[in-house]
Amino acid sequence: MRTHYCHEINETLVGATVSICAWVHRRRDHGGVIFLDLRDREGLLQAVADPDQSAAFTVAGECRNEFVVRVSGEVALRPAGTENLHLPSGRVELRARKIEILAHAEALPFPLDEEGIAENLRLKYRYLDLRRGKMLQNLRLRHQVTRYIRGHLDAAGFVDVETPVLTRSTPEGARDYLVPSRTQPGHFFALPQSPQLFKQLLMVAGLDRYYQITRCFRDEDLRADRQPEFTQVDIEASFVDEEAVMGIAEPMIRGLFSGVLGVDLPDPFPRMAYAEAMSRFGIDRPDLRNPLELTELTEIMREVDFKVFRTAADMPHGRVACLRVPGGAALSRAQIDAYTEFVAIYGARGLAWIKIASLEEGLSGLQSPIVKFLPEAVIRKILQHSGATAGDILFFGADREKVVNEALGNLRNRVAADLNLLRGEWEPVWITDFPMFEYDERENRWTSTHHPFTAPQNPDLELLQTAPGKALARAYDLVLNGHEIGGGSIRIHQEHVQKKVFSALGIREAEARDKFAFLLDALRFGAPPHGGLAFGLDRLVMLMTGSETIRDVIAFPKTQKAGCLLTEAPGQVADRQLQELGIRLRPGVLDDPQNP
Ligand code: AMO
Ligand code: AMP
Repeated sequence: MRTHYCHEINETLVGATVSICAWVHRRRDHGGVIFLDLRDREGLLQAVADPDQSAAFTVAGECRNEFVVRVSGEVALRPAGTENLHLPSGRVELRARKIEILAHAEALPFPLDEEGIAENLRLKYRYLDLRRGKMLQNLRLRHQVTRYIRGHLDAAGFVDVETPVLTRSTPEGARDYLVPSRTQPGHFFALPQSPQLFKQLLMVAGLDRYYQITRCFRDEDLRADRQPEFTQVDIEASFVDEEAVMGIAEPMIRGLFSGVLGVDLPDPFPRMAYAEAMSRFGIDRPDLRNPLELTELTEIMREVDFKVFRTAADMPHGRVACLRVPGGAALSRAQIDAYTEFVAIYGARGLAWIKIASLEEGLSGLQSPIVKFLPEAVIRKILQHSGATAGDILFFGADREKVVNEALGNLRNRVAADLNLLRGEWEPVWITDFPMFEYDERENRWTSTHHPFTAPQNPDLELLQTAPGKALARAYDLVLNGHEIGGGSIRIHQEHVQKKVFSALGIREAEARDKFAFLLDALRFGAPPHGGLAFGLDRLVMLMTGSETIRDVIAFPKTQKAGCLLTEAPGQVADRQLQELGIRLRPGVLDDPQNP
């Protein structure tokens, strides 16, 4: 039906007869002539209907915005002075000889060329939202990314293998999505949180190099960079160590950025141990565009009487630290109060601060609710260690290490955004030497920092039992601009090591057999050393497109409440379907305001 896309129509075609299939982006009636701005996937083209061509002119008069039309006619130069140099087709126009209306359109629920449309409305009519240039560009860039990655991994000898979606729960740390089995009533599949165990089994099978661009499912609290179903670029290889895996992943990401965005990322990517990241930034995914750093004060505060700091410094896992913000002395009381409320989200019980008006006048150059509680010598040390200068503010955190790190780590991000402190465009960093385990205080047990199949660094396996908090993992994450875009590890390929790790996690022998018999068995039949990683495709594309949320790079995303506004999923099902599955709903569950 069409001879060209809109953007292909230019000076070289003047005099040619062409046919365009498009939407009417805008109809402009200029009394004598009617202009139709035609829009297709590739761009815009101006068509003109002149009363001379009376049939076409009449149809042009019937057209409304978003009608689907086929317009045929002759390409002509636009009259001098009316060119639009922003468009590839902006020097020419299409003189319509024939216009066919292929579909009518009602007035849209929102205008396509306005910013700030409520996201719920956009998601309800996602197919209209996707007509907008920016959204279409996002989807097309996403395609370029997956195409690049496939090409790169294919060339490097990786084999694309599909793994099951109906499977058993793999412990990746989130809640599972469950699917009831009809043929085995009372039994459930879990949707995979990742293909982790299958890709390891593929290594036992001898595939050697595997990849898959695949959907993963996690029922967890959603944030701007999380979705309940998201896509991983999942990679695994045999006979590799950490260097080898990073040596596969890093050139791929560098090539991706230069190939798709024309951006040169550093070579090599910097690396930083987890402990250093926590100490300097309070967070294991530091945004290195942010120049702010924490200063360690725990030791110094063991000498003071000020209770808030002293108590924290004396705790077994306590920390006192401060964040120096250059120029922050200009912050108002209201702004400081807002930051105090902000850190409270992370459990901080306050946010002590010192403003430095001048360093020359001793204590009188400082403004602060806490200097009166601290000896002058200590204050001098604080100023010295933090490198404070006139015009700065120091924010203090004193509590359990976890609280201080989360509070000041997130405050660091927030302040840098508020004060426009980010510099540079792209800052990747590998975070290495993660702890094997984290202590879950709510459940009173050790959990895996990554997943239970991650190999420990130390060959002394007794450490896993005696000092689980000290054991380091052969794991690595790739962080870009403060987002964890990928992560992985060298895996355990020996049954006795796997059993030790399960036991450190408090998973008993019987439970381990019940859940992971297939893995433990596989490790007995010749499992090669192996490792890999997975990238979050949605996050990667979110960063590459400069989008605020990953919803903007997913065609049909879920809301923060994990629902789809377009299809209204999840929905209720017929009683018969439930019966077949052997399921009965708890009485009142549908009326429960907790389950809207
Ligand atoms: P991990 O759990 O770190 O590792 O996931 C890998 C990457 O997937 C992305 N990601 C998400 N993206 C969007 N929404 C989510 N809810 C979400 N959760 C994770 C992140 C993350 O870095 N099996 C291991 C990988 C391995 O060890 O090889 C795994 O799944 O960008
Ligand atoms: P208070 O003695 O409770 O009035 O606190 C004095 C100052 O210390 C105030 O500015 C509080 O915001 C701050 N503060 C209190 N608890 C903490 C804490 N755990 N970490 C950092 N600052 C705190």
